[in-house]
Amino acid sequence: MNNRIQIFDTTLRDGEQVPGCGLNKEEKITIAKALEALGVDVIEAGFPISSPGDFESVKALADVIKDATVCGLSRAVKKDIECAAEALKKAVKPRIHTGLGTSDQHVFTKLKISREEVLIRAHECVSYAKKFVEDVEFYAEDAGRTENEFLARVIETAVKAGATVVNIPDTTGYCLPEEYGQKIKYLADNVRGIENVTISTHCHNDLGLSTANSIAGIQNGARQVECTINGVGERAGNTSLEEVVMILRKHNWLNFETGINTQQLYPISQLVSETMNMPIQANKAIVGSNAFAHSSGIHQDGVIKNRDNYEIIDPAEVGVNKSSIILTARSGRAALNFRLGQIGVHLNKEELEDTYQRFLKVADEINVVNDKDLKELVEGIASVNA
Ligand code: KIV
Ligand code: ZN
Repeated sequence: MNNRIQIFDTTLRDGEQVPGCGLNKEEKITIAKALEALGVDVIEAGFPISSPGDFESVKALADVIKDATVCGLSRAVKKDIECAAEALKKAVKPRIHTGLGTSDQHVFTKLKISREEVLIRAHECVSYAKKFVEDVEFYAEDAGRTENEFLARVIETAVKAGATVVNIPDTTGYCLPEEYGQKIKYLADNVRGIENVTISTHCHNDLGLSTANSIAGIQNGARQVECTINGVGERAGNTSLEEVVMILRKHNWLNFETGINTQQLYPISQLVSETMNMPIQANKAIVGSNAFAHSSGIHQDGVIKNRDNYEIIDPAEVGVNKSSIILTARSGRAALNFRLGQIGVHLNKEELEDTYQRFLKVADEINVVNDKDLKELVEGIASVNA
């Protein structure tokens, strides 16, 4: 089986659905260009029928993006599909992403149709989209809560109708990794013709499991992962692109690869955060401000001796300048000496001990001690001023 994982970025569609994070056309173009430079395989540009503005944005992206596939979302509704096809007309590699809910919850209480009608609509939406583009992705919304036997029937119907990719969303972030992995395996083993199409994961983070579920999906046969920069998305968000990419890179024994230029991960994370006005939590894996910051004495001593003692990623690999040693009341003498060295101050043993005791008092008061505070701490020391 091929081990290249396609990265399908949906920051501009599912990510942009976050209240207050809507993007205008120019902002979408800026992010889309950065995504293309990052090396994503597919950019989900938007949901063209949702608004005239989004239609124009998808159209603009179809015009400027040349390497990546440009994808537009639609419901299993003819006018949605026609609208997506129109917006994607100029794309070098257009894809229509269409589908409907398949769980009992969605079928009976949202769509209010029968299971037989789901099968009919799955067939109709894919074959209608095929009239406009060759590359059609089918999604089974709420697949995470759909019985595997019925899900397999729906997916087989979409494959027969000509789907090139079948997306198995855990829309509500409900599944456990083993359960989601088994779902993908069940489909890979039981759907006729599935070997000719790509299985895609699309996991939400309601229980904090979206990344783990996506990896379980890959390990069981999925070859496309749908994700967003910084994990942005409705509610608790989507699978975070940077986490999936770095997990596959760090665990290279799994033997999967992506086309992502990892050094662009931090810059694009900042770009998305600033453009969407959505701060990144400090302890966010890979791109949070504390992801490469060390503040406790034991860790700082270990990192100063050898970075690998407490870091499994070289910050340069993801485009972060360097690790940082943060001085707090939990820091030790090694860290204080290291940071003093960085500002050109070299103390003897007694001077360092004396400065360390005064440093602790200051750190207890102000929490984080910066370079300016350090300079003030060593001001009275004769060798420093000599
Ligand atoms: O979460 C979901 O099910 C979706 C689909 C529309 C693909 O975003
Ligand atoms: Zn989604």
